[in-house]
Amino acid sequence: MTESEQETKDLSPEVIENHKQLIERDNQNKARGYDYEEGVKFVLEQSLPLGELVLEIGTGKGRFMTAVASHVKELITLDVSAQEQQYARLNAAYAGVGEKISYVVQDAATLPWPNKTFDAVITMNAIHHIPHFEQVLKEMQRVVKTTGKIILADFSPRGFQIMGKIHRSEGRVHQRHFHELRNFQRLLRNQGWTTRLRKGYLQEVLVAWKKKEADSTPSA
Ligand SMILES: C[S@@+](CC[C@H](N)C(=O)[O-])C[C@H]1O[C@@H](n2cnc3c(N)ncnc32)[C@H](O)[C@@H]1O
Repeated sequence: MTESEQETKDLSPEVIENHKQLIERDNQNKARGYDYEEGVKFVLEQSLPLGELVLEIGTGKGRFMTAVASHVKELITLDVSAQEQQYARLNAAYAGVGEKISYVVQDAATLPWPNKTFDAVITMNAIHHIPHFEQVLKEMQRVVKTTGKIILADFSPRGFQIMGKIHRSEGRVHQRHFHELRNFQRLLRNQGWTTRLRKGYLQEVLVAWKKKEADSTPSA
């Protein structure tokens, strides 16, 4: 038995079934033009390093979460949906990163942590699900350390087109609230943050950090 066969054997049927469904879904989306793995890879490249203690907004099924977890010491992920977080938990168990992650079910409009708690506060492909994202961003700014950074990532206009097409082909509507990362960039800059907005693989990523006196890069 190979090492990977042995590892798979040790996982529960629920974990294996969840992984199978995630892969099936990702393969369908890839065939229709959006490769989630490539999206996560691009966002992660733009985001690292993240420091030790990280907060994620919008867990979803945990694709970005599992990728991030292997680069940090501790990850807390927050979502309004306990069901989505259950899928994410199974996904983390499959990826072998479950021990590093804890889960909070709550609206991100108010975050239950003191000021300056996290080395980084991150979100991928959840912004367009949240109508009151300006309020969420205020909370992200509040709970990140002065030396930390904020990562806002969502689909690019072409990415949204493709996701819309995928949903339509399944007889569904891709629910979307319209937010522009460049508007959040302007807002953060006006409040003294240094920012970098990059586009790549059907994604946009805004990285923001507080400029230090002798440096212009984030320490995390
Ligand atoms: C597309 S999923 C996120 C995908 C995930 N970040 C990834 O890349 O693997 C969007 C998630 O945002 C969550 N969400 C929507 N509104 C929210 C809110 N107000 N606060 C926290 N999470 C919210 C949804 O429940 C959903 O799980």
